[in-house]
Amino acid sequence: MTSFSGTIAVFDSGVGGLSVLQHIRAELPTARLIYVADSAHVPYGDKSPVYIEARSLLLSRFLIEQGAEAIVIACNTATAAAAGGLRRHYSLPIIGMEPAVKPAVAATKTGVVGVLATIGTLESARFAALLEKYAGNVKIVTQGCPRLVEIVERGDLLGAEARQLIERYTAPLLASGADTLILGCTHYPFLAPLIREVVGAEITLVDTGLAVARELKRRIDLELPQPTDLDAMPPLGDERFYTSSEPTQAVRIMSKLWATGVTVEQLPVVYR
Ligand code: DGL
Repeated sequence: MTSFSGTIAVFDSGVGGLSVLQHIRAELPTARLIYVADSAHVPYGDKSPVYIEARSLLLSRFLIEQGAEAIVIACNTATAAAAGGLRRHYSLPIIGMEPAVKPAVAATKTGVVGVLATIGTLESARFAALLEKYAGNVKIVTQGCPRLVEIVERGDLLGAEARQLIERYTAPLLASGADTLILGCTHYPFLAPLIREVVGAEITLVDTGLAVARELKRRIDLELPQPTDLDAMPPLGDERFYTSSEPTQAVRIMSKLWATGVTVEQLPVVYR
């Protein structure tokens, strides 16, 4: 187990990246974590790459000012639009994420994989390159899922509207013979219990949260200063939560998704 006690920053268009933050917390128990939900600008899925890159650059500036030593883009859509730009601007480790095509291709028995993601991710050059690299002979069927993100932003994880949308979005994928579904947006793992109910136990669901947390840990071990006093285990790390929108609503939803009461600060006005 690592005893890294530096500061790691994580951002997403909204609360979805908390599904990744949970894995990061488990992998790095003593790290200090800062999370930004860009909820004043959610969803990113229907915004232009230029807009998302501008938001990502601004949020990263804020996070670096807060002492971030590495940044995780806990958002498939923002990774596709902005990972390149962020890496050109900032020299700290920047870990992005993309739909889990490689493990899904390895898992499928029917030779058909379904991808649930935002339109922005599915239309990106990065996603096309991912398929080119890993799909091989496996048939990949994709489904953009407008409105699922808003449902998670409202914290409505088990409601009738969520169920109807999930039925509508998964039906064509299952009809194509998919036995493996990629949750290609960090908001969707919060809907996994409902997705599981709708698609049944036989279907494999894959997401990238754990892989991203492990990649972050690997990069930290390689690139960031490690504690010198090996006998002294630092205290457990804390979390700081920020939103670009109104904090009252954010406190309610983020406390629900993080499964414990949290305090949420509003970003300074220049970053909203
Ligand atoms: N959570 C995001 C993702 O992983 C973005 C969702 C959105 O804002 O559209 O793609």
